[in-house]
Amino acid sequence: MPNAHITGWGMHVPEPVLTNDDIAKLVETNDEWIRDRTGIRERHIARENEFPSTLGIEASLKALEVANMAPTELDLIICTSSSPEYIFPATACLIQDQIGATKAGAFDLLAACTGFIFATNMAAQAIRSGSIKNALVVGTETLSRFVNWKDRNTCILFGDGAGAFILQASEKPGGVLSAVMHSDGSGADSLTLLGGGARYPATETTVHEGKHFVQMDGKAVFRFATRVMGHAAKEALDLAGLTANDVQWIVPHQANLRIIETAAKYLKMPLDKFIINVDRYGNTSTASIPIATVEGVQKGQIKVDDKIVFVGFGGGLTWGALVAEWTGPIPTTKKHVHPEQYRFFARLRSFVRRAIRFIEGLFSRKEL
Ligand code: UT7
Repeated sequence: MPNAHITGWGMHVPEPVLTNDDIAKLVETNDEWIRDRTGIRERHIARENEFPSTLGIEASLKALEVANMAPTELDLIICTSSSPEYIFPATACLIQDQIGATKAGAFDLLAACTGFIFATNMAAQAIRSGSIKNALVVGTETLSRFVNWKDRNTCILFGDGAGAFILQASEKPGGVLSAVMHSDGSGADSLTLLGGGARYPATETTVHEGKHFVQMDGKAVFRFATRVMGHAAKEALDLAGLTANDVQWIVPHQANLRIIETAAKYLKMPLDKFIINVDRYGNTSTASIPIATVEGVQKGQIKVDDKIVFVGFGGGLTWGALVAEWTGPIPTTKKHVHPEQYRFFARLRSFVRRAIRFIEGLFSRKEL
């Protein structure tokens, strides 16, 4: 059975930064309160012309470059987002088209902030089954579009950004070692975005009632998160036959520093074994785990052969953890691939295909 190795990683955040002081101009809050209760100092916010697909494309191309893989080698793309571009088409298909992943099947996976854990596990399972060799997993968000900037309970928390992993089949031991996935729909009300779906299709009333905004029972989510984070990490470690002592790094979902501190206490692990960057990005939902991972690698914290626990929780309710042995790019003799160069051809290909479809449409109308 092949193993599923994480061989590429990339992140991208929009440039504009919104500080706590900036938010204090919008709602009644202040920098000290936000830092004390959440650990957040600032977050990045997408510009008008940035979307989950555009952020996701940048992160994906960087991940492909690290893995030295051409987009055309991808068999599967799973995109996970709490703020997808549309209900459909899937954001994954937009990314597939624009990076030129011509032979990849692409779909979206929705599990709120736990999405990246679930998606990475699904990609790893597909690789282990032998049905695919190369997968791209993308977590990407422009949650700022769904935040009510008059609600101080939520608007202080979220930020925009994207992160991506490449997973590759290899007979070498290591890669994804274990994963656990959990859900409890009885807690669905705690964290929601109700408007625009089949129960509340967009109408003047739904907009008036603010159903197109994220709604959250902060205390309930906090209690749930502190209960499940450490427990899920331990479960995944047990499944991999490891203990907390065997692990070099924990990469937690970056929602609130106090939640991460509680997980550290539960696991009896020092906080400096946790990769933490919630202070600079806020909660980027599905993108938070890959963004923290990329920074961990760039800072020289995460190294080849390290054992890492990725652990997350979110709306649904959902939670899960995944244990991996960090591999790094698989050595190859092939020339350095520049996935960025594929972008031009991908756009051209997309344009030509649209043109052909248009012309086909003209002819088929005549035939009718
Ligand atoms: O990916 C999952 C996403 N969600 C989460 O992870 C959220 C988890 N929950 C949390 O992080 C926390 O519950 C919050 C940060 C949202 C809130 O922190 P808290 O410590 O649970 O605050 P609280 O709701 O208990 O409010 C404490 C006080 C209240 O005032 P009173 O009633 O004690 O006078 C609030 O009205 O703080 C007030 N408050 C604020 N004050 C200044 C609530 N929000 C704010 C604010 N600025 N932004």
